[in-house]
Amino acid sequence: MAVALVTGAGSGIGTCVAELLAGRGDQVVCADLDGARAAEVADRIGNAIAVAADVTEPAGCDFMVEAAVDRFGGLDTAVACAGIEMGGDSIDFDLATFRRIVDVNLTGSFLTAQRAARAMVDQGNGGAIVLIGSINSKVVLPGTAAYASSKGGVLLLGQALAVDFARHGIRVNTVGPGVTDTPMSAVSLADPGRRAKLMGRTPLGRPAHPREIAEVVAFLTSDGASFMTGAFVPVDGGWLAG
Ligand SMILES: NC(=O)c1ccc[n+]([C@@H]2O[C@H](COP(=O)([O-])OP(=O)(O)OC[C@H]3O[C@@H](n4cnc5c(N)ncnc54)[C@H](O)[C@@H]3O)[C@@H](O)[C@H]2O)c1
Repeated sequence: MAVALVTGAGSGIGTCVAELLAGRGDQVVCADLDGARAAEVADRIGNAIAVAADVTEPAGCDFMVEAAVDRFGGLDTAVACAGIEMGGDSIDFDLATFRRIVDVNLTGSFLTAQRAARAMVDQGNGGAIVLIGSINSKVVLPGTAAYASSKGGVLLLGQALAVDFARHGIRVNTVGPGVTDTPMSAVSLADPGRRAKLMGRTPLGRPAHPREIAEVVAFLTSDGASFMTGAFVPVDGGWLAG
């Protein structure tokens, strides 16, 4: 039975990924800064445990990987869904906020993948890692300097890790969601003007349900994707197609 670690599992896309992986029979470690919400998810999906951890902390990332190994005997899959988004004009954007966004989205993805890969190397069976980028890994909107640069970094991080980890049989791919109906995008989607702008850029004309992102993540962690590594896979309702 495969063992999967999902960060950001307490909400949105991470919750759907944890549900889907548990549903196909994986044993799942649900990790989140908000340990109570991760625990609710783990209790609901079954065959899962919850861990409260901050992905910006190396010790937190070691802790969630150790939880997988201690409780379930190993680690086969890691999905780095933890992320934050805050926008604002670059001319007066707060430096501490910029640093936190890069720390969570980019450094947190690196630490999650690095710590997971170490356990996979010890185990000797390879593994699959999925990072979560964004359409903003490729394109920007006004006021997205911090978020877009963090997500642009995630795109190249995924490629670099794919190259470094390939010799261990560990695949690394990055999913790039478009606008997805989660708490992260709730404020934008509740504003009629903002929603119309975002949907005007989305050929399918609607936000994704987080399950539609999770389905692609689950595929990338499956044997069906055994020759995929270093890929960036947009799941964006056609946004990046123009
Ligand atoms: N919702 C969208 O429209 C959208 C679009 C593109 C990309 N994404 C990306 O998808 C991922 C998931 O986003 P979501 O929409 O599900 O957001 P969300 O806000 O619903 O969930 C994010 C989760 O990450 C957790 N988290 C935040 N900081 C953390 C930290 N330091 N350590 C551990 N956990 C932490 C939060 O507690 C939360 O449970 C993020 O990387 C986000 O940037 C979302």
